[in-house]
Amino acid sequence: MMKSLLMQYSVFPAKILNGTIRLPGDKSISHRYAMIASVAEGTSRLDHYSTGADCQSTLGCMRALGIEIERDGSTVLVHGKGLDGLRAPAGPLDAGNSGSTIRMLSGMLAAQPFECEIGGDESLSKRPMQRIMTPLAAMGARIQARDGKFPPLRIHGAKLTPIEYEPPVASAQVKTCVLFAGLHTEGVTGVVEKTQTRDHTEVALREFGAAIRRAGHSITIEGRPKLQARVLAVPGDLSSAAFFLVAANLLPGSKLVLEGVGLSPSRTGLIDWLMAAGAQIRVLDVKQTAGEMTGTISVTGRQLEGGVIEKAMTAALIDEIPVLAVLGAASRNGLTVRDAAELRVKETDRIATVAENMGRMGVRIEVAEDGFHIPGNQTFEGAKVDSFGDHRIAMAFAVAGLAAKGETVVDNAEAASVSFPEFYDILNRIRE
Ligand code: S3P
Repeated sequence: MMKSLLMQYSVFPAKILNGTIRLPGDKSISHRYAMIASVAEGTSRLDHYSTGADCQSTLGCMRALGIEIERDGSTVLVHGKGLDGLRAPAGPLDAGNSGSTIRMLSGMLAAQPFECEIGGDESLSKRPMQRIMTPLAAMGARIQARDGKFPPLRIHGAKLTPIEYEPPVASAQVKTCVLFAGLHTEGVTGVVEKTQTRDHTEVALREFGAAIRRAGHSITIEGRPKLQARVLAVPGDLSSAAFFLVAANLLPGSKLVLEGVGLSPSRTGLIDWLMAAGAQIRVLDVKQTAGEMTGTISVTGRQLEGGVIEKAMTAALIDEIPVLAVLGAASRNGLTVRDAAELRVKETDRIATVAENMGRMGVRIEVAEDGFHIPGNQTFEGAKVDSFGDHRIAMAFAVAGLAAKGETVVDNAEAASVSFPEFYDILNRIRE
């Protein structure tokens, strides 16, 4: 496949971007549908499933747990076996690069009557797991981790007891992990989230038939429901759309139409932020299907004001910050990001990798422990940048290259395939 061969992506400045794009299926929603469909009863059909390697890792794990899964392009059939249908895998489960897979699936694994191991690649092996080990241990699971906190995890499944848990960091993965453990546990399990995170788990569990409720900051799930297979279409990925929404605004006069994009109110902080910074964005054809909103986004590029990302907005935009940093450098007033220590424990330390690539492109950036400031009205110099193996860093700096002087080369560009294998082809098609 092309993704494993492509190591460098060379990008020359573009005048404008112009065209209509259909994004691959949302990564967050694809993971959840595949995991929940596996423990539902009957065959679910998941259309427009994410083409990214991360969501393929989830399918690999579910198969290794005894679930029959067929895949034809972006259509996936999951032959669910019910809440007690998972089987001990023959060897360690491989989550690849995917923090969502290891953290969310661990919630289900902790409640199984067997022991198993789950780990992943070099980047995943450095990501903190105490955030899920703490609540799962409180429910009665026994989990061993490398150095007490890193993958691989050895999970000794057990009959769990419900808890009410308030995660100390805003994290949809932690919330999901606890809710998935609660799904398998008699009684009512609760998560209290002070800062709202993406709610795809709650929406999906409801669609498959679970009794899940939200009251203020508190979410509860009644354990041991009978989940029913569903036919579902995954909306386009708004976090992948972000690269094009930014690129259009780096190249004034660009016109892009993004069709069938997921518009969950728990994710559209991105659109609100861009519009507050002056973006000309229209959202059309909004529909709700299976509890998720979708619509078409049209954008006409112009130089934006920039702004601040802090507090709850930081949690809402956490995946988009690398590409918004690129926007910030080209904006009138620059970008300040605060309260973003979480960026340091993503696929790479994204404060460090953004700063390194900005430096290589001649862009000034002041780094703080939990954020950064990038002054506005800066010009990108073409340079050799690196993804450092991080999909969002690869794509953010390919976008920067569109507005740079001279050639930009992204090393290890194949990392993009973790969430968006079609990214470079689409970019090549819409640039003028
Ligand atoms: C995700 C939650 C976020 C996000 C990640 C996907 C999810 O992580 O950064 O890309 O699908 O729940 P955290 O839960 O660690 O904030």
